This record gives sequence, structure tokens and C-alpha cells, in this order.
Amino acid sequence: MTTPEQNGQTTMTDTATTMAAAPRAERPSVYRLEGATRTYSQKDRIVKALTGVDLEIQEGEFVSIQGPTGGGKSTLLQLLGALDRPSSGSVHLGDVELATASSAQLNRLRSEEIGFVFQGFNLIPTLTAAENVDMALEMARLDREERRRRVAQALEHVNLADRGDHRPSELSGGQQQRVAIARAIVKRPRVLLADEPTGNLDEGMRDEILVLLETLCAEGLTLIVVTHDSAVAGRATRRLRLAKGVVTDITR
Ligand SMILES: Nc1ncnc2c1ncn2[C@@H]1O[C@H](COP(=O)(O)OP(=O)(O)OP(=O)(O)O)[C@@H](O)[C@H]1O
Ligand SMILES: [Mg+2]
Repeated sequence: MTTPEQNGQTTMTDTATTMAAAPRAERPSVYRLEGATRTYSQKDRIVKALTGVDLEIQEGEFVSIQGPTGGGKSTLLQLLGALDRPSSGSVHLGDVELATASSAQLNRLRSEEIGFVFQGFNLIPTLTAAENVDMALEMARLDREERRRRVAQALEHVNLADRGDHRPSELSGGQQQRVAIARAIVKRPRVLLADEPTGNLDEGMRDEILVLLETLCAEGLTLIVVTHDSAVAGRATRRLRLAKGVVTDITR
């Protein structure tokens, strides 16, 4: 399969055109989990963080994950992000089965197909907004001019074209989170995983981020967002609850 990185042509708008034509059930599935478990051994204790999760997520969905602390949300996000492997069961990202994939395959997925937005922005304070976004392209084999073009495009996408030379301390909270989103999408990933993307923001800034997330989703990006914020979950096309390692669909 040719990735957008390889052909340099595919834009999110191209994907969006394809998406609009296909009803959800007929879209390709991005994730397929079957009986996925994750247990942690702690001295003489075994913690069952995920207990047999069955889940399918199609391209272009906006999925929210809510639930009590310790319920398994971060554990699930780590599996989806190819940062971890299931203890048993299977997790497919496209055609790749994460439990048996090689480390090189997991690295490729993380660098080409998955964008992350962490809680608390995670921007490097000494770098400008543009340099923070550019960092995500470190592993991509692109020449300097193409990198510069991609960074400018990503900043423009999150409406920060005029703030590329600002350092994080010179940006508002909402703007910093938009830089973090630009950094996650600059690789043109298939999936965006976000852990509490509005956790540190006031209401106005939260709405700003929500509008941006919805725009990206409409363009075909698959969004999976862990959130305690019911306003965020309310905008998702599918709402999941994760408690005691069990996923339930609470979409109304
Ligand atoms: N590395 C680890 N070693 C042992 N136990 C762990 C580890 N990571 C998580 N756990 C346990 O697994 C369970 C699920 O944790 P997880 O971090 O996924 O919860 P969460 O839903 O993200 O919670 P929060 O809302 O507080 O972030 C918890 O009981 C936790 O103590
Ligand atoms: Mg967590």
C-alpha cells in the first residue's frame, strides 16, 4: 500500500471526498479488537486493566472514551497507539496485528499512521511553534523544503499561520493545544489519538479545539478521544464508556 508520505499527493481533502461517498458500515475498519486483554503483574498482584475488549472502529469516526479513573482508558489508548501490546486477544490496526508485529512494524505505524495529542500539550518550551511541529517529521524522509511546506500547511490548518515563530509561553492555552494538534497531523496520519485534549482549557478555548477536531474528522481523519468532558463526548459520533476494563457503547 502506498502511504500519503510515499506518494506525497494524498491530502486529507482527497480522503474526505472518498469518505462522503461511503456509509459508515462500508468504510474500511481502522481498528479491530477481539478479546483484547491487558494485565499488569505487580509483585504478587495481577491487575486486569482490560478484560476482553471487542471493538471495531471505522475510518472517519469520532469516538469518545469516558469512564472512571483506573478504568483502563490510558491502557486502551496505549494499545491503539501501538505503544503497547495486548496480553491476549488481538488488536488490528489495518492489516497489522499488534500482538505479533515486529518492533519495526510498530515503529512504522507510530511514525506514519498515528498522531498523538497528549494531556497538557507536551510542547518543548525552548522551541517555536513551527519547530515543535517540525519535530514530528524528524523520522520522515523528506527534504528540507518539503518539511517547511508541511509545517506551514499544518499550522495553517489549525489557524496559526501567523504564530509559527512564537514560543509556547507566548501562546494562549488554546493556541498551544492547536500547535500540539498541528504536530500530530503534520505526518498526515490515519488516526488521531487524544488524551483529555481539552483538560487544561477554559470553555471558550475548549470550543475552539472542538471545532478543529470536528473539521479534521469531516476531512476523513479518525478521532479517538479520551475525555472527562461531556461537551466533548457530546460531539462524538460514537461514545464509549470504559470501566473496570470493560467497554460499553453509550451512544444515544
Ligand atoms: N504500568 C502499570 N503497572 C501496573 N498497573 C498498571 C500500570 N498501568 C496501569 N495500571 C493499572 O491498570 C488500571 C487501569 O489504568 P489506566 O491508567 O488505564 O486507567 P485510566 O482509565 O486511564 O485512569 P485515569 O482516568 O485516572 O487516567 C489501573 O488499576 C492502574 O492502576
Ligand atoms: Mg489515564
